[in-house]
Order: sequence, then structure tokens, then C-alpha cells
Amino acid sequence: MNRSAVVVCCVLILGNMEAIAQQSQSCGGPQLGTWKLQSFTTEDLATGEKSALFGEHPSGYLSYGPDCRMYAILIKEGRKAPATLVPTDAERVDLYGGFIAYAGTYSIEGDKVSHHIDASWNQAWTDTTQVRQFYDFGRPVTSEEIKLWNIDVRPDGKGLPQGSGTVAHGKSVYEANCEACHGPNGKDGIKDRLAGGQGTLASDKPIKTVGSFWPYATTLFDYIHRAMPYQAPGSLSVDDTYAVAAYILNLNGILPEDARLDQETLPGIRMPNRDGFISEPEFRKITNSRGVE
Ligand code: HEC
Repeated sequence: MNRSAVVVCCVLILGNMEAIAQQSQSCGGPQLGTWKLQSFTTEDLATGEKSALFGEHPSGYLSYGPDCRMYAILIKEGRKAPATLVPTDAERVDLYGGFIAYAGTYSIEGDKVSHHIDASWNQAWTDTTQVRQFYDFGRPVTSEEIKLWNIDVRPDGKGLPQGSGTVAHGKSVYEANCEACHGPNGKDGIKDRLAGGQGTLASDKPIKTVGSFWPYATTLFDYIHRAMPYQAPGSLSVDDTYAVAAYILNLNGILPEDARLDQETLPGIRMPNRDGFISEPEFRKITNSRGVE
């Protein structure tokens, strides 16, 4: 009976918080999100002397939410765990000395942020306002910058950039950029073999290559574009990437010598091992953070 009363009470409180957040001013801005503590120094205003009270490498987080609430937790470098789960009095003092934590609402004016504390590790801070100076939050990322990172290609070809390349051109790209590691014709190199091995997967000596193992040709573009050549990823142009992918597929007997690949033709290629993978029912249960499969 008691327990269910407590549960009902908690639900009501959560409901109220949401209502408060909806009423409050918008707290959007570059401060939003979670910040990891990198250093924590205090300065004696009289002497200008600085000291790292929590060591050179403290840990901790500062978080600003769009509901105008903030949370801070700061932990001293080398803070010791008590010998048993329940600390002794001496350990309790030590633990307390290496720890600061508080929560409250926040408001921003110019380059100052005020933390209006309503819950804190040291009751003396509760119901106080701590004014802090904001420093450089950087700037929002530009869409051009996002484009440089947003290069994933899906099995169905979604995400493939515009461009094209031939097997013939791919051969020269390969010889200049790949052969040193992957060997002539994608075999006998010092690194992974890229060609051949078809029909060996179920044998005692399976040879896994792009041609024998990979289920989707589109992955070849994605992989080379993001990760190869090993010592200089991202250095190949889109056209050269299509070309060298075409050449590797040709080495595997999947494309003829006169083939040209682009964002339309690459997803249409059916890899020999396309049906060699079965879907694992356990993985199908994986959901994203919103619980959508
Ligand atoms: C300096 C050596 C080096 C060079 C040059 C290089 N690679 Fe690689 N490549 C590697 C290594 C090492 C791996 C394995 C990486 C791993 O497993 O994390 C690899 C893996 C690969 C794979 C995946 C093989 C598999 O079946 O898992 C492909 C495809 C590939 N490289 C293509 C290329 C292409 C195309 C080029 C030229 C544009 C190139 N590589 C240049 C070292 C190199």
C-alpha cells in the first residue's frame, strides 16, 4: 500500500516538471548538451595564483537542457573508492572532499550564465545563485562540414555520390595506390587479399575476399572511400573510387573489362555471396533509442 502511494507521487512530480519546462523561456543556444570537464582551476584574486584543486585530470560533466535545467558533477583526480561498499567515517570525509555536484535551473545574459541551484551536494549551496562566465562555445557546424563526414553508403546504394569510373581507369588507380599492399591483381600482397576465393567458403580453407564473401557491392565503394588507401584515407576522388571498385569487381569476374560504374549501376550488381548470409533473429530485436525497430 505504502509503495503504491510512493509511485503515484513520483509520477505526479514528473508531470509537474514537464509543465514547468513548457512554461519556461526557451533555453536553446550553443551551451545546450553535455560538456565533459577537462580541467578545474581556482585563482586567488589577490595574488593571481592558480591551483588545480581537483588535480590536473579531474573528471565530471556539466549539462544544459532545453528545459532550462542544468546539472554539474565534478570529481577529483584519484578519488578513492572505499574499502567496502559502506564507507568508514574517514573515507566518507575523503569522498566528500573530492566531489561537487549540484542541479538547478539556469539563465543566460550576455556571456554570463547563472545557475539557480535547487539541489546540491553541500546544502549550503542550495537556494543560491552561482554566476559563471561563458567562454568560447565554438560555432554551429556548417552543412559543408557535415557533408565531409556524412559519407555512408547503404546496401541499396543510398548515399552514393554522383560520379563514375571505368575498369580500365581503375587498373591504373589500383597500381598507383593499392598494389603495394594488396598485390598484383588483388592477390599475393602483404595485406588482405581482394580477389578470388569464390566457392571456398564452405571448405576447410575458406578464402574471404570482396568477391567470395561480401554480400553487397555498394559496401566496396563505402569502404574504399572512407578507409583506403590505408595510409591516406579520403584521398581518392569519387570518380577514382568508382573506377578502382570497378577494377576490383573485374578482378573477381563480377564485371567485364569494358564496364563503367556509377551511382545507378553499382547498386544493381548482385554479389556471388549475396545469399550466403542469414538474418539472425536476435539482431532483429535491436531498437533505436525511441524503441522503433
Ligand atoms: C599501406 C597498405 C595499404 C594500401 C596502400 C591499401 N590498403 Fe586496403 N587494406 C590494408 C589493410 C591493412 C587492410 C585491412 C584493414 C582492416 O582489416 O582493418 C585493408 C583492407 C582493404 C579492403 C577490405 C578487405 C576485406 O575483405 O576485408 C579493401 C576492399 C581494400 N583494402 C581496398 C583498397 C584499395 C582499393 C586501395 C587503393 C585505393 C587500398 N586498399 C590500399 C592496407 C592497405
